[in-house]
Amino acid sequence: MKKIVINGGKELSGSIPISGAKNSVVALIPASILCDEETTIYNVPEISDRDALVDIIKLLNGEVKTTQDTMHINAQNLKNTVIKEELSSKLRASYYFMGALLGKLKHVEMYFPGGCKIGNRKIDFHLKGFEALGATVTEQEDRYIIHAEELKGARIYLDFASVGATINIMLAAVKAKGTTIINNAAKEPEIVNIATYLNNMGAKIKGAGTSKITIEGVDYLHKAIIEVIPDRIEAGTYIIIGSLLGKELIIENVIKEHLTSLLSKLQEVGVNIEFKKNKIIISHPDHFQPFNITTLIFPGFPTDLAQPISVLMTQCEGQSILEETIYTNRMGQVEYLNQMGANIEVNNQTAFIKGKTPLYGTDVAASDLRAGASLVIAGLLAEGTTKISNIEYILRGYEHIIEKLTAVGADIKIIEE
Ligand code: EPU
Repeated sequence: MKKIVINGGKELSGSIPISGAKNSVVALIPASILCDEETTIYNVPEISDRDALVDIIKLLNGEVKTTQDTMHINAQNLKNTVIKEELSSKLRASYYFMGALLGKLKHVEMYFPGGCKIGNRKIDFHLKGFEALGATVTEQEDRYIIHAEELKGARIYLDFASVGATINIMLAAVKAKGTTIINNAAKEPEIVNIATYLNNMGAKIKGAGTSKITIEGVDYLHKAIIEVIPDRIEAGTYIIIGSLLGKELIIENVIKEHLTSLLSKLQEVGVNIEFKKNKIIISHPDHFQPFNITTLIFPGFPTDLAQPISVLMTQCEGQSILEETIYTNRMGQVEYLNQMGANIEVNNQTAFIKGKTPLYGTDVAASDLRAGASLVIAGLLAEGTTKISNIEYILRGYEHIIEKLTAVGADIKIIEE
C-alpha cells in the first residue's frame, strides 16, 4: 500500500504553480462528447479522476490523445454502450456522461456514480432536470436508464444551487429544441468554464456565473478549444499551507477573485498576503486570532476548503467554529487531527476547535480527498513523522503534490509499505 510520509516543521519558500481545476476538467472531458468534431482541452491536470473519465470515453468508442497537459477528444464515432459499474463508481463526475450522452444520443445507461463519501449525495435535481427536458428516467437496481425521443427546452428551478445538476442540465439542454432556463443555478467558476467551452463549440448559453442560465438549443457543435481554469481549491490548500509555514511562499497561476472568501478571512486573522498579477505571496504570522467559518455556495466559503482550514484553526489562540452546511459527513479529518494533538469537538456538522495545540506526527488515514489534504497540511506542520494511508483519495485531486511541496522545502515522499 502506498503511503505519504512527512517529516514536519519545515518553513516553506519558493514557488508552487497551480494546475487546472479538477472540478472543471471532470466536466469538460464528458462535455467534449457533445461536439460533432474534434475538441482540444489545455491545462489538463494529471490526476486520477481524469484517467477514469478518459476510460469512459474510450469505452464509448471516442478517441482521446493526451500530450502533456493537452487533450484532444474526438467523439464522431461515438457508440452508445452501458457505462459499467467499475468505471462509473470510480468517481462522482462520471454522472456528467448522463447529461452529455442524453444530449448527444438521447439515451444513457450507466451505473451509479461514485466519489468521496462525504454525506448523502443525491442526484434527484439532475434527474428531475432531464425529465423536465422530456426524458424518462428508470432506475433498475444500481443502474440508470435515461431515454428521450426528443429533448425540448424547459424552465427548471433547482431547489438547491447544485453544481452538478446545473452542469448536467446544461449538457443535456445545449442540443435540445428551444430554450431552457435554469433558475437558482449554481454560480461556481467551474460552471462558467464549461459554458465557455460549449459556447466555443457554437452553443448558445447566457448567464453562466449568475443564478439564471439561459440555453438556446442548437443542432450542431463544431471544433473548439478551451483552457481549464486554475484550481481554486488546490490554490486555497497551498495558501493555507503558506499561512502556516510560508516564508514568502509564492502561489502562481491564481485567479484571486475565485478565492475572495478565503483570502479575506486569512487577512482578517493576520496572515501576510501580497498580490502580484496572478501570483499570491504569503508569509505566516507569529499568532493567529480565532475565527469562525460557515461553508456556503460560491462566492461564500467553499466546502472543499473547510477541512483544510480546520488545521489552521488548531493553531489559533482561542476557540474557532467551523460549520459545514453543504454536506452531511465532512469531518473525517477530525479523528486523526485529534490523534495528532488537536482539541476538536464535533456536533453534527459543526466543529469547535480549541487552540493553540501543537501537532505531533503519527499514523493517520485519509477518509476522503479534502480530509486527506488536511492531513497533509497537519503533517507539514507537526513535529516528527506523519504517515498517511489511503492516499489514492489525495491523488484524485492534487496534481504532483509531492513534487510541488518538495520544491518549496517540504520533507514529503510516497513510500510503498
Ligand atoms: N444535492 C442534492 N440533490 C442533487 C444534487 C445535489 O440533494 O441532485 C445536494 C448534495 O447532496 C449536497 C449538495 O446538494 O449536499 C451540494 O451538491 P452539489 O451538486 O453542489 O455538488 P456536486 O456537484 O456533487 C461539486 C464538486 C464537489 C464540491 C461541490 C460544491 C465535482 C465533481 N464535485 O459536487 O467537489 O464540493 O460541487 O462546490 O465537481 C471535492 O472536490 O472535494 C468535491 C467534493
